[in-house]
Amino acid sequence: PPGTPPTPPETTVTDKYAFAFDIDGVLIRGGRPIPEAVEAMKMLNGQNEHGIKVPYIFLTNGGGKSEAERCVQLSKQMEMEISPGQFICGHTPMREMAEKYGTVLVVGGEGEKCRHVAEGYGFRDVVTPGDIIKDNQDTTPFRKLTADEYKNSRARNFAEVKIEAIFVFADSRDWASDQQIILDLLMSKGGYLGTRSENFDEGPPVYFSHNDVVWSAGHDLTRIGMGALRVSLEAMFKAVTGKDLKTTAFGKPQIGTFQFATRLLQQWRKESHGIDAPPETVYFVGDTPESDIRGTNEYNEHADNSWYSILVQTGVYQKGTKPRFEPKATVDTVLDAVKHGIEREY
Ligand code: G3P
Ligand code: MG
Repeated sequence: PPGTPPTPPETTVTDKYAFAFDIDGVLIRGGRPIPEAVEAMKMLNGQNEHGIKVPYIFLTNGGGKSEAERCVQLSKQMEMEISPGQFICGHTPMREMAEKYGTVLVVGGEGEKCRHVAEGYGFRDVVTPGDIIKDNQDTTPFRKLTADEYKNSRARNFAEVKIEAIFVFADSRDWASDQQIILDLLMSKGGYLGTRSENFDEGPPVYFSHNDVVWSAGHDLTRIGMGALRVSLEAMFKAVTGKDLKTTAFGKPQIGTFQFATRLLQQWRKESHGIDAPPETVYFVGDTPESDIRGTNEYNEHADNSWYSILVQTGVYQKGTKPRFEPKATVDTVLDAVKHGIEREY
């Protein structure tokens, strides 16, 4: 009938291959989309010469908000709908540790956000650096809580609280005070603040949500990240106690993170596209050789060789240098990466 819009040409979903994307330095820089990213997503959503839709997920080391909140933000930036079912951030796998510990210290991120993320993951008793400073403001001589921080922090008698583990969920907003508190716990008798161990070998374990020493933000040059805090903390522990500190990092390039992503992708393909078999190839597009390319390549060695690494030049890795970990392909932007993957399939 007149007035009815023409029906768009049929698109089919491929079950042969899929994509996975890093975010910072590939799709986003400094909170703004990389210009080619929106078009790259449209291409996967069917705007390509084959009229085919390609399933995809996102795998970032970033975090600091719940997966659902991050998806709302990314959907706006990419001008399309992104679901938590296709999204993994650095701290997502920490969810699996919620049962293991009672009281934990959660470090990093804005305000109370990471406390809420951890509670959402099922952690039973979450303490923040703000709680500890509110209980004893001499903890950090050069950091005073803002009125908001004071209001939201939950003071209690920490002399009686055993902190069983430390989780750095997102980038610290105040390195000096956060490191002071982490160091106090590492040097304590079994996780009790205000005590000092004789051998410095009974503090709680420390987990970082990733290990990126640098990352790609708004500035032209890379910025220091959580991996830098980790290096700094380990060096400081050594300087103060003379002992080596062993810490653990999640995120890329850990093989466990890629296994987690493989499971998520399988579930996503099933739930949203009705595909009940693993893809032959997963194209992973990243900007950081040490996290994205290393992880993809090492995962392949342990698994079925289905992941294919593509390095872009819009973030940490810059043209003209030799990447420390060799990708299967190097291209300029995420749009070129999508074109490369699709062309390889036909
Ligand atoms: O803090 C986030 C950053 O280190 C890396 O994020 O998306 O590049 O893995 P992404
Ligand atoms: Mg990146």
